Amino acid sequence: MKEIVLSGIRPTGNLHLGNYYGAVQNFIKLQDSYNCYFFIADYHSLTTHPHPDDLHGRVKQILVEYLAAGLDPEKATLYVQSDVPEVVELYLFLNMNAYIGELERVTTFKEKVRKQPDNVNAGLLTYPTLMAADILIHKSNYIPVGKDQEQNLEKARDFAERFNRIYGIDYFPVPQAFNFGNELIKVPGLDGSGKMGKSEGEGNAIFLYEDDKSIRKKVMRAVTDSGPTEPNQVKPEPIQNLFNLMKIVSKPETVQFFDEAYNNMSIRYGDMKKQLAEDIIQMVTPFRERINELSSNDEYIKKVARMGAEKAHESASKTIKEVREIIGFRSF
Ligand code: ADP
Ligand code: TRP
Repeated sequence: MKEIVLSGIRPTGNLHLGNYYGAVQNFIKLQDSYNCYFFIADYHSLTTHPHPDDLHGRVKQILVEYLAAGLDPEKATLYVQSDVPEVVELYLFLNMNAYIGELERVTTFKEKVRKQPDNVNAGLLTYPTLMAADILIHKSNYIPVGKDQEQNLEKARDFAERFNRIYGIDYFPVPQAFNFGNELIKVPGLDGSGKMGKSEGEGNAIFLYEDDKSIRKKVMRAVTDSGPTEPNQVKPEPIQNLFNLMKIVSKPETVQFFDEAYNNMSIRYGDMKKQLAEDIIQMVTPFRERINELSSNDEYIKKVARMGAEKAHESASKTIKEVREIIGFRSF
């Protein structure tokens, strides 16, 4: 039987090139060789109290963008977390053996306490238990997560092992980080800093839905300097970032052309940015078109969500039934 890969997607913001090359492209590869579950973590998003009028739209937008980017509902199980309420029951069970002390020590929790001291709710504290429930509900084996989620994954491992120990049964597989080897790429942002991200400020990220004009504008404003002062010099960070971005979206000859121009000091950043913008536009255009198509195809989106919910529910209800039995709940 194929091993199970699972990942959750927060319904915040739109897909940008960083998400695409750093995460989605890996999911697309995985869906061919593993039994994949990808879900939109809308229960988790309640920790920040979204307005009821916004929640559904955000979830739909993320679903549309991930489908447009290449997640295939025929290959992977794509679902919305709140369509599978069994996960909440498992969350409750796991919380009974999750301790305040260990939850308070999780770095992402400590960060939230610092960033939003007025909203330190119990959902934030137990975020790792809900995440563990997401993972364990399908008895997942591998979790493709970035560095920032490693500690949450560690908690899921602890909770799985603890459950198995308490009940003296080898029930939950202990989930592991999916190891991509050297394949993880970091997409630089346009503001000269190292990472493209939606929270890094206006103009730093290029989104898959973006139109040509707005892409050109953002790229032309990317941070550069006054140019090389001697031949073959080491590129300062913002310039290296621009080259790194170009390596991701442009042809190798294009990168080589500007690299040589940099090294012999004839480079004009304006020309390089123009070329970079056109190459990004070429890459993004088909995605934007698919996003627009899918956005107006409610029937299809509904079908995808239903199909995913059904498949996820089937697996989740089996686990919950067995877990209830293990814990000692018996029906009369
Ligand atoms: P953001 O940084 O915009 O808030 P998220 O934290 O929502 O993005 O990231 C979702 C996924 O996309 C994560 O797996 C993360 O590792 C990946 N990702 C985000 N930005 C980048 C980037 N600049 N380069 C590579 N991967 C990225
Ligand atoms: N916490 C993850 C994030 O912030 C999202 C997530 C929720 C998740 N549940 C998960 C990721 C289960 C992997 C497995 O990106």
